[in-house]
Formats: sequence, C-alpha cells, structure tokens
Amino acid sequence: MSPISTKKHGDILIVTSNNPPVNALGIAVREGLVAAIGEADGDETVKAVVIICQSQTFFAGADITEFGKPMMLPMLPTVVDIIENCTKPVVAAIHGTAFGGGLEVALASHYRAAVPTAKLGVPEVKLGLLPGAGGTQRLPRVAGVEKALEMAATGNPIGATEAHALGLVDRLIEGDLEQHAVAFAEEVRSIRPIPKSSERDEKLTAARANPQVFADFRKANARKFRGFDAPEKNIQAIEAAVAKPYAEGVLDERRLFMELMTGRQARAQQYFFFAERKAAKIEGVPEETRAREIKRVGVIGAGTMGGGISMNFLSAGIPVTIVEMQQEALDRGTGVIRKNYEATAAKGRMTADQVTGAMGLLTPTLKLEDLADCDLIIEAVFENMDVKKEIFGKLDTICKSGAILASNTSYLNVDEIAASTSRPGDVVGLHFFSPANVMKLLEVVRGAKTDPEVLVTAMQLAKKIKKVAVVAGVCHGFIGNRMLMPRQVEAMRMLIEGATPEQIDRVHVEFGMPMGPFQMSDLAGVDIGWHRDPTRIENIRDALCAVDRWGQKKGAGFYDYDEKRNPSPSPVVQGIIEDFRAKAGVEKREISDQEIIERTLYTMVNEGAKILEEGMAQRASDIDVVWVYGYGWPVYRGGPMHWADSEGLDKIVQGLRNQEARLGPDFSLAKLLVSKAEAGEKLTR
Ligand code: 3HC
Repeated sequence: MSPISTKKHGDILIVTSNNPPVNALGIAVREGLVAAIGEADGDETVKAVVIICQSQTFFAGADITEFGKPMMLPMLPTVVDIIENCTKPVVAAIHGTAFGGGLEVALASHYRAAVPTAKLGVPEVKLGLLPGAGGTQRLPRVAGVEKALEMAATGNPIGATEAHALGLVDRLIEGDLEQHAVAFAEEVRSIRPIPKSSERDEKLTAARANPQVFADFRKANARKFRGFDAPEKNIQAIEAAVAKPYAEGVLDERRLFMELMTGRQARAQQYFFFAERKAAKIEGVPEETRAREIKRVGVIGAGTMGGGISMNFLSAGIPVTIVEMQQEALDRGTGVIRKNYEATAAKGRMTADQVTGAMGLLTPTLKLEDLADCDLIIEAVFENMDVKKEIFGKLDTICKSGAILASNTSYLNVDEIAASTSRPGDVVGLHFFSPANVMKLLEVVRGAKTDPEVLVTAMQLAKKIKKVAVVAGVCHGFIGNRMLMPRQVEAMRMLIEGATPEQIDRVHVEFGMPMGPFQMSDLAGVDIGWHRDPTRIENIRDALCAVDRWGQKKGAGFYDYDEKRNPSPSPVVQGIIEDFRAKAGVEKREISDQEIIERTLYTMVNEGAKILEEGMAQRASDIDVVWVYGYGWPVYRGGPMHWADSEGLDKIVQGLRNQEARLGPDFSLAKLLVSKAEAGEKLTR
C-alpha cells in the first residue's frame, strides 16, 4: 500500500503521507506524491492541494538509507518540479521537522503553513551534502541569501515563527493543522498566477549588487568549516543561485551535489548519522525491559564535574540534590552553577525566568542522608577507589530500594565499586566528559552485575538530558580514555626521539582534531594526575610540573602563553626534552608526519580493535561515537574505526608493523585487526 493517500474536502485535495517514523521521502513516497499531483491536475473539480504528513513530523528529508544504492526514479528533484508545476495551488502543511528534501517539497509548494512548534531546515551539510532538490536555489529566493547561506552551510534549522517573519512560512497555524491548511487552500485557490519560488528573484537583488556577502560569510565561518568539504559547496551552490538564472543554478547544484555524494566525507558523515542512532541500542537486554522512573537526582561533589552534571538535569527540569562536605565548597559549587546559567542568559540563550526555574530545582546540602529520596545518585568525587567504595557503602544504607547508584569515574573498576554495596545490580558507571554541561558524550559503563533496567534507564535519561550515550564495558579508561593512552605514550616518546610538541600537535590539527595532544594537555592541566612531588622527576611531564609549567592556567606548559593565551614554542621545554634525550642516550632524528600518524592514530585504532575484541564496546561504530563526541575526532572522517576501514586495514596493520620496534615491548597488534585485514573485512562491517 502506498504511504501516500488522497481524500477530498470540498474542492481541496488533501494529500497525506504516512511513512513512519519520519516520513522520509523514499521511493514509495516519491511515487505517491507524483501520482497525487497527477490526480489534482487531472481532476477539474480539484481547485487546490494540501500536502500534509501523519505522525510526528512533516517529511524529514530524503531517505538516507537509499543513498549509495542504485537510483530509483522518480528522483526528488523531479518530484519537487512536478509539485511546483501543478496547475492548482499547493499548500504544504508543516508540523515537526521539515528538513532537507522535506523543506524542498515545501519550497516547491506554492504556499507554506506551519504550526508554531515546527522546525524548518536543510541539514544536508551534516551528512556531507547540500540540498539537492532545488533547495539551494529556492531557499535564497524565499528566505533571502544571508539566511539561506546560514541555514545551508551550518545545517541548523529555524523555528516556524522566525520562518514566518522571513516569509519562508506564509501562515502560522494555531489549532488543527489540516483544518486550517484546508481553509488556507480555499483562500488561495483562485489566485493567479500561482506563485512559484523558482521564479522569484526579488530577494536575490541585494546579493547580486553585493557579492562580497559570500566572501564575508566564508571569512566569518572559516574556523567552523575547517576541514569540511560540504559547507563550501553549499556556499557555491547559493552563489550560483544569485549569479545565474534558476535553470542554470539547478545544474550547478546537481553537479556540486554529485561531487559531494561520491566523496569520502559524505560517506563518513552518513555512516556517522546511523552510528549515533545505533549507539542507543543496548545488546543483550530483553526487549520488554522498562526504565525506572527518575524524579529526583542526587549528585555527590559540587566541583567542576558535579556542578556540570547537575546542570544537565536542572536544565531538563529534573530536581537535583547536591552534596558537599564543607559549606564553603557547597556555596562555591552552587555559585558556579548560577554564574554559568547567568552567562547563558546574558548571551540570550535563556531567560531570567528559566535561570530562576533551574536554580529553584537545586537543593544544596551537607548531608549524604538527604539523598534518601533520590531515584538516581551520581558520585562525582575525585578518582580514588577507597573514597568511592566508602561513599557507595554509605549510599547502600541511605538510598531507597530501586535507586540507581552511579559513579562518574573515568578509569576505575565499576565492579569493584559495585561490590562495596549489597545491590551491585543497581550500580552503573556514568562517565560524563568535561565540561559536563556542554559535552554531548556519556559513557554508560555496564558492570558485570548491572541490571538491564538500570542500563535502559541510563540510556533513556541520557536522551532526555540531550546526551549521546554509548555503552562501555569495565576496563581501565573504558572506551575513550583507554584509547587515549597509547596516543599520549607515543607522543611523549617521539619528543625524546626528535619531534617537537608543535610538530605533533600540527599533524593532529591538520588531520582535523580540534587540538593536538600537547595543546590538550596544556588546556586540561599538565598537572592532572601528577604525584605532586617536585623532587621526583621521572619523565618530561614531571619535569614540567616541577617548574610550575602546569599548562594554560599558569601561562606555561608544553608551550609558553602570552596574556591572551596565545601559545608559542618554549625554549625551556625544548631544554627539558633535550636533557631527557641526553639522559636516555637517544640520538635525535627527523620524525616524519607519517610516523606521527602511525604511532598516535594507528595505535589508537589498534586499541579500539582490542576494545572490540574484548567486548568492551558493543560495536565498532560506538567507538566512533565516543571519539567524535568526546574528543573532537573530525566527523568527516567518521571516527577512528570508520577511518581505519576507509584507509584500508591492511595499510593500518602494515603501518603498525613498520613501527613495531619503536612501539616498545608493551605493544601488541590486536588480533581482530590483523584477522579483519587478512580477510579483507572491515571493523565497522
Ligand atoms: N532517512 C532515513 N531514515 C531516517 C531519516 C532519513 N532522512 N531520518 C531519520 N531516520 C530514522 C533514524 O535512523 C531512526 O531509525 P531507527 O529508529 O531505526 O534508529 C528513526 O528514523 C528515528 O530517527 P531519530 O532517532 O533521529 O528520531 P528523532 O525524533 O530524535 O529525530 C529527526 C527526528 C529530527 C527527523 C532526525 O531523525 C533527523 O535529523 N533526521 C535526518 C534529517 C536529515 O538529515 N534530512 C536530510 C536528508 S538528505 C536530503 O534530504 C537530500 C535532499 O536534499 C536531496
């Protein structure tokens, strides 16, 4: 049965799509739309058409699962042209998300009506693409060039109210969408000529007179777009809309779309779209497992982590009880939370009432006993097993039955923590990344005895607080930090052998990471995890800490920093490195960029393969989600596992073998990596 059905209301033909979950414009929908427009054209009693969707949303875009498969006609560009050329006025009735191809359908319709909660956007750029069904040509004609540039190149949607102010939505509808859209269609059914977006150009004239707008846009966003192919091609397509007639502009759009579609970045970004959604699925949990209800959360520790974690729940409207040992620390912690909210409000991203509302949900206390009525308690104190065990032992006696007891540990053994309670099934790791109110990643650490209900609750809650959660097994550093270790070790070794922090960082930044290992260390604090004894100097890091080079906060770390925190290479650090080199009796040599890649990135892939083979990650794509959301791995390379697959696993294995002698006795090739390489298989399948 076609997902598209039609029915008449007086002389209005209502075309309804029912293609859950998101009304993606797959082949059956496209065929159905063409048939429905044909019906409208062919029936003289039909005077206008309404296109509307059932369930949660208007068409949310092309069907991404069809990408990379043989083409199925009619293609979307043809379908939208058929809609625009309908001889009866067409009204798009929008709710939910009119995204990508969905917005292109709406733009080809002659009128757009939307409920105020609807969102309109062209997120193709996030899939490494551009709107390929006339969107780059029609959107600037309807919404204006600057808005179209912003929407297409960033992929960020706008709300219906803004769209209405821009003229992208003709009518905002309160109440029943279908009923009002039909009334709107009745109003416009006799208007001639029928307005077509492709024929408009009044909103292009300003940019025609001032093509500088494109150069300005590129300049203003250069940093954000660094490394990505798609934003530039989106800009070029909109430039074509301004510089050329519509018929030529769409040809440019098609060419640019195909260039992107056949590229490596689009493949990686589309892979990642599904990777992110797969991560939410927990293996080995009975389907009927229900989540527990979380009405109040307790957080132990009001430091940077505890405060950031609390904000996630407060922002989602969930009350939080926050516990500290000393009044001063408690006041400081709650003060920081308030300041963070106020800073957000000052940027216009929150109202004063919302700040008051969020702060009103926070209950600070010095008593652990006050956690008795919490449904989830997250411990966020420093990384010390004895301290954590003691806290969990106490929680066991205080917390109500069924409460979930979580640790925010980033390395420690969750099973050992769980064993300090009489209810290990209720214990789980919830590893937030700093700053916890900003970073999207949450590693959900599944202990040997963690109850399926607890896992399901954690994953659902993550979505509620707008995190992307990944299930990890119990191992040192879980997924993310465990893979970071070989990278750090090798980066340090290469300093002694002859590389500089600048060279190693540059290779990582050119690869697309936001920063290299030494820049990251300076930002996070070189002193993190340092033993704090300036007389005990066993490595370069100890030597830096001993002379107060703790990173950006001290104005000196692996780099020197000026008062604006601009880094420059440090002669002091160079001296320290040379001392260590001399002591180790190592002869300085040229280290190539390729060697840096092999010893830092290939070793990470190798560790990822071990994580997979040990079952510490459910699937390779989960590892990629961790690295993209937790560490800024460039999404256009899909994540370390996808990247390794696209480079070729045999190349990765060969590179590691080339370096094996330098990687030291602790290094071993992951069996899974070798076997997949030999079999010509992929890690991500
Ligand atoms: N094609 C195929 N499947 C899609 C899809 C699409 N465009 N969009 C979402 N889905 C699937 C998801 O994979 C998921 O499947 P699963 O349940 O099997 O995991 C299911 O629909 C529900 O999706 P979400 O979990 O993401 O649901 P949310 O409610 O959280 O979000 C959404 C809904 C905002 C619509 C979000 O899914 C989304 O952003 N989708 C992608 C939108 C997009 O990128 N559109 C442009 C497509 S490219 C295009 O149109 C090209 C054209 O210009 C030619």
